Amino acid sequence: MLEMKGMKIVSEKKTVQFDFVETESQKKEFEAALTRLKEQRGAQMTLLQEAQRIYGYLPAEVLKRMARDLDVPLEELYSTATFYSQFTFVPKGKYTISVCIGTACYVKGAGDILDDLASSLNIQPGETTEDGKFTLESCRCIGACGLAPVLKVNEEVYGRLNKKKSEKVLVTYQKEE
Ligand code: FES
Repeated sequence: MLEMKGMKIVSEKKTVQFDFVETESQKKEFEAALTRLKEQRGAQMTLLQEAQRIYGYLPAEVLKRMARDLDVPLEELYSTATFYSQFTFVPKGKYTISVCIGTACYVKGAGDILDDLASSLNIQPGETTEDGKFTLESCRCIGACGLAPVLKVNEEVYGRLNKKKSEKVLVTYQKEE
């Protein structure tokens, strides 16, 4: 369970500290979305999705801006965002490894692959390595059941895996910058 305290994310396992960095184009894009959407019905959810898409996660600073512009309590935004698993309060790593645990993949050993990768990366699913390089997560069926078990690294799909092959995939990305 994650708890947000300013810019310090505290989990049961470890504490990860990171700085909020915003590019000029992210700032402009989000401000344009705020101006465009804030008067619309359901603006809260749409803007949370926009923020997640633009920044890759929901930075505390951006949520504060949203709360101010929408004139809603910050706690309300946090409570909406924590309800949906699509939102995260922590920046994702450069490489997001998503192991499919849909039925076809699960019965072919996806659970073991996920455990194995978690142990190699020394993180739990849903967490990011301290160097910010990898995020590990599980996901639902990605529509490649014929290749089960599968995983994705960002948008690249790898299929017909076993523990050894998935470790090889990981090593390939570990060698990348
Ligand atoms: S269940 Fe994994 S791709 Fe369909």
